[in-house]
Amino acid sequence: MSATFDDIIDADERIEPRDDMPDAYRRTLIRQIAQHAHSEIIGMQPEGSWITRAPSLKRKAILLAKVQDEAGHGLYLYGAAETLGVSRDELLDALHDGRQRYSSIFNYPTPTWADMGAIGWLVDGAAIVNQVPLCRCSYGPYARAMVRICKEESFHQRQGYELLYTLAHGTPAQKRMAQEAVDRWWWPSLMMFGPPDGESTHSAQSMAWKIKRHSNDELRQRFIDMAVPQAEILGLTLPDPDLRWNPGRGHYDHGEIDWSEFKRVLAGDGPMNAQRMAHRRRAHEDGAWVRAAASAYAAREEGA
Ligand code: ACO
Repeated sequence: MSATFDDIIDADERIEPRDDMPDAYRRTLIRQIAQHAHSEIIGMQPEGSWITRAPSLKRKAILLAKVQDEAGHGLYLYGAAETLGVSRDELLDALHDGRQRYSSIFNYPTPTWADMGAIGWLVDGAAIVNQVPLCRCSYGPYARAMVRICKEESFHQRQGYELLYTLAHGTPAQKRMAQEAVDRWWWPSLMMFGPPDGESTHSAQSMAWKIKRHSNDELRQRFIDMAVPQAEILGLTLPDPDLRWNPGRGHYDHGEIDWSEFKRVLAGDGPMNAQRMAHRRRAHEDGAWVRAAASAYAAREEGA
């Protein structure tokens, strides 16, 4: 007799596309994987704008590779979502007409070169903390995609850290630029982990299904605990006067996160929401002829 969905989850094994699964489990995965895929391709925009302005050939090659990796992550994730019975076209339509989300973090601007460092160190650092447990997600295709993505994210985090370290140990103006970028990205990076546990609508069910392995607040705390000593080595300050080690808890305490800002960004009113979506829709329209050309032969074969 084949194992039921509950047996597989209880045994901590993987659900595969051929297995029976509750509709709500399938819908939750489509929602999360699609949101994740959309984040990867929208996430190419804030850094893409710096490729032509990178200060050296080496930095340009690194940034180009990183932005290409994000496109690849989008591909793996759309592929994983397709195993659940949705098409890439449907998912992109849902992004373009606002029925599906992408991460709040990509609605912030990148005014200086130091933002490339802060994104690598903080945004990709937060992404790793959030995504390493997803390598053990109960849905096989998503878990396997995450293994490769996490390896590449480690390179992204490392290059950002090294870039910021170089700036922070350069001229006073370079150090100031690095500090200002960290000041801009710290709080939005903490918001990436999602609303506080008491307000997270999906966490309890997603954790019972072993899609999520930790709550939003647990992962946020893990990230803060890692970032504080790294900031010290960088010689930069994190913009939170209430950050301090709490020996009783064995964690850093931190100041209040401005959840009204998070809600505003989710509602579409962040600093760059309109530009990001306009650019995405335009890129999609501009690419229509490529998609038509790439699928013309297969479409003819199907019709024959
Ligand atoms: N940005 C935008 N929306 C968010 C964010 C965020 N940072 N955090 C939570 N939300 C949304 C959720 O999608 C949900 O809205 P919905 O019901 O309309 O979908 C709502 O806020 C409530 O949040 P939760 O119940 O906590 O949602 P969930 O259980 O899905 O947890 C989380 C959110 C932690 C982001 C989870 O979906 C996840 O781990 N996703 C995979 C990682 C990912 O998408 N990373 C993208 C950025 S990293 C990168 O691309 C480099």
